[in-house]
Amino acid sequence: MGDVMDPHVPESLLASPAWTEPNPHTQMYLGDCRDVLAAMPERGSVDLIFADPPFNWDVPYDGWSDDMSRTQYERFTFDWLDACIDALGPTGSMWVNIPDDTAAEVVMHLKRRGLLMINWCVWHFRFGQHRDSSFIMSKVHALYFCKDPTARTWNPDEILEMSDRASIYGDKRTMEKSSNQGMRVPMDVWYGKYWGRIQGNNSERRHGHQNQIPEVYLERVILACSNEGDLVLDPFSGSGTTGTVARAHGRRSIGIEQSEKTAKSAWERITQIGMKRKGAAIGQSSAIFKRRSNKGKTGEDA
Ligand SMILES: C[S@@+](CC[C@H](N)C(=O)[O-])C[C@H]1O[C@@H](n2cnc3c(N)ncnc32)[C@H](O)[C@@H]1O
Repeated sequence: MGDVMDPHVPESLLASPAWTEPNPHTQMYLGDCRDVLAAMPERGSVDLIFADPPFNWDVPYDGWSDDMSRTQYERFTFDWLDACIDALGPTGSMWVNIPDDTAAEVVMHLKRRGLLMINWCVWHFRFGQHRDSSFIMSKVHALYFCKDPTARTWNPDEILEMSDRASIYGDKRTMEKSSNQGMRVPMDVWYGKYWGRIQGNNSERRHGHQNQIPEVYLERVILACSNEGDLVLDPFSGSGTTGTVARAHGRRSIGIEQSEKTAKSAWERITQIGMKRKGAAIGQSSAIFKRRSNKGKTGEDA
């Protein structure tokens, strides 16, 4: 899909990116995503949006107060969601990474705006912050919406994982299928090797960034919901995970980031460092039991 000029914004007022790089066309805009989304030439033509906003948990982002009143934060959330909806093309998909305390509001808002929910996925991690006043938080929601479910891009064969049938039971029938032997489309709870939060000396880690998301997460989203050459946009670029994975997989991309310091570091990652674990999301097993032996067992117990 080509770049589309918005007829409502005079050319002189259109936003322009701070950095661009060709092959595939990769851009980084500096500024508040609500302003940039409304004024960028690509408005209305984006194929896939992945948004991981500040959660209002008082994280010390460079140049951004992550401690709004609840009313302000809801207003902010609805405004950037609306700006994303306008940026998305008619066949586009949108993913939002959001914790428990705002997931319901995001779902309600997107439904009210006419988007359709395809999946309510959960990103499960096992390194939650210790607390004893309630259960330890070990998930964030990955909400998958689109404008038109029949026209959306959906590439299940690109993101298959090993089925439990194959990895636990060594079931011959799955290995004798005519295609995708031993594989299945992943379930809607995501975890496993390389799926943990990015911290410590993890090789993906970009120091100086807050809440960096693992590459495997973006790889699954981008491969499943876009094709090579499509335009992928992240309104809260942070360390640039979306742009890094999009570029590695031949997608055009736009990152938007309000902090110049953060954006510079993200740009270096996207254009010079690149993806560390390309392909790691594909073909893994997410089984929670080891392979079972069938010796001496029959029927249901086997
Ligand atoms: C949760 S982090 C994104 C992390 C990113 N997914 C990654 O993997 O590194 C949110 C980012 O959004 C930026 N940000 C906050 N408000 C913004 C706004 N209104 N417009 C653009 N960027 C914003 C913050 O500076 C921060 O870098």
